[in-house]
Amino acid sequence: MPRDVAPFDAGFGARGQRVIVSGVTELSAPNDTAAAYDAVASLYAELFSDVLADLPMERALLAAFAELVQAHGAGPVADIGCGPGHVTAHMQALGPTTFGIDLSSAMIALARQAHPELRFDEGTMTALEIADGVLGGVLALYSVIHLHPRQLPAVFAEFWRVLAPGGHLLLGFFAGDDPQPREFDHKVALAYRWSPDSLADLLRQAGFVEVGRLLREPREGERFQQAHLLVRKPQEL
Ligand SMILES: C[S@@+](CC[C@H](N)C(=O)[O-])C[C@H]1O[C@@H](n2cnc3c(N)ncnc32)[C@H](O)[C@@H]1O
Repeated sequence: MPRDVAPFDAGFGARGQRVIVSGVTELSAPNDTAAAYDAVASLYAELFSDVLADLPMERALLAAFAELVQAHGAGPVADIGCGPGHVTAHMQALGPTTFGIDLSSAMIALARQAHPELRFDEGTMTALEIADGVLGGVLALYSVIHLHPRQLPAVFAEFWRVLAPGGHLLLGFFAGDDPQPREFDHKVALAYRWSPDSLADLLRQAGFVEVGRLLREPREGERFQQAHLLVRKPQEL
């Protein structure tokens, strides 16, 4: 999980590293997201592949998500915007069959290299190549942040479409106080911070029922609160 993009601009405090990535420090246009992540994929993998070891609250939430998915017995989990696949592998180890999808071909190549036993597909969350109602869970951790706010209702409808009734969705994002989503200076690609209440409202409008949320204060080297929303597609529609 990426925190904010601290490693790319302000140093990753937990590891005492300071890294400057040349060429990706300007905000990218939305359709440049894949190219921007291709350019930093190796560094991203190096910095974040072990990050869950330092994040007990996120690990607890992922464990709860895995348990809920398995309790409903409703199919595999898709990790959408999986990056180098570290969370995909963590989720698989917790029990649910899990595969990853990402826009960036370099991220997918690294994920396949690191976790050859798992499935990783290149693709976009705006048009998932997944049949209706087959997934027990969707993970979207710090990936919907790169969508323009106007795109999110359609993306949430897409998540709804692929989830089975009773399936769960876990969203991770950078929190902001402003009720309006705000663009921020993410150093890889154009990105937005959201107030948890505003994103929860959008999810509710898409038909999801909130199960719970986590708001974690920034650690050293992070700029923003880190938010997670856990929601469910109702069993009875
Ligand atoms: C900040 S990284 C998060 C990676 C991983 N989920 C994590 O928590 O470390 C955002 C990822 O989302 C991917 N992404 C951005 N827009 C996407 C889209 N429309 N469809 C699929 N993946 C996307 C990027 O390529 C990138 O790998």
